Amino acid sequence: MSDRTMRAVTINEFGGPDVLTTGRIARPEPLPTEVLVRVHAAGINPVDWKTRAGHGMAGLQTLPLILGWDVSGVVEEVGFGVTTLAPGDEVYAMPWFPRPAGAYAEFVTAPSRQFARKPDSLSHVEAAALPLAALTAWQALVDTARVTGGQRVLVHAAAGGVGHLAVQIAKHLGAEVIATAREPRHTWLKELGADETIDYTRRRFEEATGDVDVVIDLIGDADDTDARSVSVTRRGGLVVSIPSGVSDALADAARQKSVRTSPLLVEPDAAALAAIARLVDSGTLRVEVERTFPLEQAADAHRLGETNRTRGKLVLDLAQ
Ligand SMILES: NC(=O)c1ccc[n+]([C@@H]2O[C@H](COP(=O)([O-])OP(=O)(O)OC[C@H]3O[C@@H](n4cnc5c(N)ncnc54)[C@H](OP(=O)(O)O)[C@@H]3O)[C@@H](O)[C@H]2O)c1
Repeated sequence: MSDRTMRAVTINEFGGPDVLTTGRIARPEPLPTEVLVRVHAAGINPVDWKTRAGHGMAGLQTLPLILGWDVSGVVEEVGFGVTTLAPGDEVYAMPWFPRPAGAYAEFVTAPSRQFARKPDSLSHVEAAALPLAALTAWQALVDTARVTGGQRVLVHAAAGGVGHLAVQIAKHLGAEVIATAREPRHTWLKELGADETIDYTRRRFEEATGDVDVVIDLIGDADDTDARSVSVTRRGGLVVSIPSGVSDALADAARQKSVRTSPLLVEPDAAALAAIARLVDSGTLRVEVERTFPLEQAADAHRLGETNRTRGKLVLDLAQ
């Protein structure tokens, strides 16, 4: 009889990186309409370490918990009724979010239609870096702000996982892109499509830019970045406040200047993932993976991520 167990990183309590424990547990079984996917790589996101620490999506989870939402892998089995995927298909997804997906493991099960075909031109490691970050950028720029050509889009934390993809998607939509990041990232961000770069450690961004149509705020209420963003936004413009929703300070500042605001929580969306894969395979969208870790070193990956200095993405490579 085949081995129906798998390696997985589990947490039994919320806390620091040391609560991440690697062991063997039972493989999940696909229900009707679900697929069982062999995970080749799992992307890491700030929501993973926020949830591990008891914040983020912790209130929606039960312990013991397998963290992780970003998956790239190969379909191993299909449940009854699945007609669009078959064993052997290479897929990527951010399944189940904000319910647990259990991506830090050798197998996941999820509804087949939450998966899209992995971009052909990417490795599993690169593909696993995309779903949550790219869907966030896409849902902010395309679905929420409906950015059109010629608009000025300011991306805060442009060098991070979401930010470096948002810069490229905004550029693809025809926007003029303003990016905040430390100076050593500026050359790279200009290659990705940023028209203006601002080192937020040297000057306040509101002294360096203005007349913005859309702010993709990936900092939120830290240092009042959300409310300060209103001062660079034109009347009728939009601040999409992604990490912390619409704070009172943001709402007050926005009301006074007739600026619109929106919170955003990323949602699974296979159609958007298919569109993102087309952008990647046509060479329009690049994903940056700063570093990979074996599954067993998930705690080290969290420690590095929590420094808040990541350029692009961190990924767990299950082949290591
Ligand atoms: N609501 C949602 O659905 C949703 C979805 C995705 C992400 N998020 C949240 O959005 C935030 C960003 O996510 P992420 O995955 O992009 O994070 P990340 O990759 O960890 O971001 C790291 C980057 O942030 C930059 N940074 C740090 N402080 C900054 C500041 N004050 N101004 C400008 N840049 C700064 C750093 O660049 P430098 O080294 O150049 O400073 C670094 O490159 C996180 O809080 C995450 O939880 C929310």
